[in-house]
Amino acid sequence: MKKAAVIGSISTDFVVTTEVIPNQGETVVGESFQTFFGGKGANQAIALSRSGIDVFMLGAVGEDSFGIELLENLKTNAVNTEMIQAVAKSESGSAHIQINNGDNRIVIIPGANNLISIDVIKQYQKELLTMDLIVLQNEIPMETVQHIIDFCFEHQIKTIYNPAPAKEIDEEFIEKVTYITPNEHETALLFKGESLEKSLRRYPNKLIVTLGEQGAIFYDGEKEVLIPAHKVAKVVDTTGAGDTFNGYFAKGILDGLSLEKSLALGNAASALAIQAKGAQDGIPVYEKVAETL
Ligand code: RIB
Repeated sequence: MKKAAVIGSISTDFVVTTEVIPNQGETVVGESFQTFFGGKGANQAIALSRSGIDVFMLGAVGEDSFGIELLENLKTNAVNTEMIQAVAKSESGSAHIQINNGDNRIVIIPGANNLISIDVIKQYQKELLTMDLIVLQNEIPMETVQHIIDFCFEHQIKTIYNPAPAKEIDEEFIEKVTYITPNEHETALLFKGESLEKSLRRYPNKLIVTLGEQGAIFYDGEKEVLIPAHKVAKVVDTTGAGDTFNGYFAKGILDGLSLEKSLALGNAASALAIQAKGAQDGIPVYEKVAETL
């Protein structure tokens, strides 16, 4: 059975739903408050797990009550947690999310996620070398992200790099990953002042740009290929849609599907995910996704 590791963030999402977004200095009354399990890394690990892949998570939580629950949640979702450290004197990561009309604004407090250092990665090198694919994002320190990319490149381990949230990174690292999956906003930061068309042509069959309700696009060496998103009648919450997309895209790649088919899988899964509230609650199991293909 193919094995994947997700190296990234594990957080609690504190979610406020409000019809009115407050202006500076203003107080408004919102509709609801809930906590959910989140963190881009954990969300992507759970998407992979629900897709039926054997998945390991490398990350950190704080030694607080959130940390205990975050770990328990990953175990309940059949994610292997042996490479997750509980860090004393640190708070667990958290994300503070405002939902307005189904769309979101997010403030992240990294907490223990910021303690995933290069040294921590070095402790698990033996385990990482057994992986068929490593998935990473930008919610751990960038020097660690760069180290992982170098490590995977050196050892010829496939990588999916989801450069979210948007951060700058040298092109040398983009060259080294197998796939990079930014959204339009992240693409604009990575390739400043360049048209989408030009950026796509730079990295045929590697750069996949997600376009929200339009789907995902890449350049196949001859032409642009758009894999359309599924139509969703009622979008409830888009938080984590990109994570579900990446998790299921990774499943497609691990199963040896074509780029087109792997992206179609990602689109199908994320269309289901946005019909439920919370980043993880709506992540579908593979059987549900297969029904919509
Ligand atoms: O991609 C969605 C995730 O981003 C949320 O779960 C939140 O934790 C933020 O990190």
